[in-house]
Parts: sequence; C-alpha cells; structure tokens
Amino acid sequence: MKNTVLTLKKQKEEGNKITMLTAYDYSVAKLIDGAGIETILVGDSLGMTMLGYEDTLPVTMEDMIHHTACVSRGAKEAFVIADMPFLSYQTSVYDAVLNAGRLIKEGHAQAVKLEGGASVCEQIKAITDAQIPVCAHLGLTPQSTNAFGGFKVQGKSAERAKQIVEDAFKVQEAGAFMVVLECIPEKLATLITELLDIPTIGIGAGAGCDGQVLVYHDMLGMFTDFKPKFVKHFGNIGEAMTKAFTDYKDEVKSASYPAKEHTFKIDDDIMEELYKEYK
Ligand code: KIV
Repeated sequence: MKNTVLTLKKQKEEGNKITMLTAYDYSVAKLIDGAGIETILVGDSLGMTMLGYEDTLPVTMEDMIHHTACVSRGAKEAFVIADMPFLSYQTSVYDAVLNAGRLIKEGHAQAVKLEGGASVCEQIKAITDAQIPVCAHLGLTPQSTNAFGGFKVQGKSAERAKQIVEDAFKVQEAGAFMVVLECIPEKLATLITELLDIPTIGIGAGAGCDGQVLVYHDMLGMFTDFKPKFVKHFGNIGEAMTKAFTDYKDEVKSASYPAKEHTFKIDDDIMEELYKEYK
C-alpha cells in the first residue's frame, strides 16, 4: 500500500518512527522501497553524490525532474518527496508554485521539500493551496552554506535555538505536513518534535525526532570525501564495489572472464563455412 501524508501523520501519532532515505535512480529506489522504507527523498544532495559538485547550489530543476521521475518509477509503496533546488522557490511565490507543480507533474513525486522558515512561509502556503504537500527543512539548510559560512551545526545559541523553534511553528502554520531538522542539538530537536503536530525527520538531530533520514551513499560507505559525525555506515558497499571492479579488471585481463557459461553457441557447420570464406 502506498504511504501517504495520512499514513505518515498516523505514524507520528502512534509513535511509529518514520524511515526515509535519499534515492536518485530507479534501481536504488526499488531496493529501498522493497526494504519497506516509508519515504524516499530525491535530495538536491544529488549535486554532490551523483553530479560531483561541491555543494547543492548548481542543481537545476531539470536535474531534479529527471532524477525524481527515475525514482518515482521504482517507488511502488514509498512516498516520494522531491527537493526544490536553489532559486526555484526563493525568487517568487509564482516560481515556487510553478516549480513545485513540475516536480509533481513531470517527476511524479507526491510532495516537495524546500529549505527555510519564516522567509519561505508565503511559498509554503501557496504550494499547499495548490494541493501539493510541502516538507519544510530547518537548521543546517545546505542551500544557505554561503550565508552560514560553511556546513555548521545550527541552534546552539539561545537566540538561534529560539529562532528555529519559531520557524518550526511558522512552517507548520503555513501548511507544511512534515519538517526535516538538520544538524541541530538533540534536545532542541526533541523539544520541537514535542511541540509540533506534524512529523519531524532528523538528520544529525538525535533520536527524539519522529523519523530519520540519511543520504544512502553516506550510510553505505559509498561517499568518502568527508564523513559527518552523525553518519553511521550500515554497510561497506563502497569497499565491496571497489573489490568487484578490481576482480572484473583482473579477470578480463587474464581472460578468465567471460567463461563458457557466459557465452552463446552457434552451429559448427555455419562457423566452418565462415572460416572457409574469410580465413
Ligand atoms: O538533499 C538532501 O539529501 C537533504 C537531506 C540531507 C535531508 O536535504
């Protein structure tokens, strides 16, 4: 059965933790979906994990639509949320509704995610009014990396902690159905989770949230440029891939791959004729 805004809300009410992972393509989405993860985020983190940029800022609407459509084809039960890339919603409410609509119409996502609090509440309200569920994103919002002066934990000072709490109330009031809390102290995330009616999804925000999200490359040990403190490797797939690539190279070079069982047969008479004609 497809997960929906209603099933996710019920999970919060019942204290049943919500699981979320990123995906950017059909095959991985199918594996995540098959594992019973309830929500898939097509994150603009694809700028780093898939496209090799240093941050998420260069990611375009076309990138997001392309990858969201691939993921949607693989997600039979998981609820698919697509990230709105940098400058696809900050510029105007009109742009925000139009671009959110494209992620639904062309990417076949069930919801969109955008970063920010009070400053994007008009956009959240307008997108929600267009019947598109919106997931908000507070704390360390990667599209603000230049304004923050880097990827830094947010909400440690009294002033900033209060601002994040106020933003959480505002995005809920504007209509957000869910909020991602990234890289904020565990106790602050727990308080916000207790205060809000909508589910909170943590990443680097401790166990008190209603659910958790990780970038799948991080949790599988496939992205090794840097490892944030909150990341746990649930597998060493990066190492397994490197070993498989090396084994493949060695077997091709030694001509032990492909073996007989990997080849197709042809009638000997046909080959004899071909040899006679050409050799
Ligand atoms: O882009 C992304 O993958 C995200 C998660 C880290 C929450 O926004």
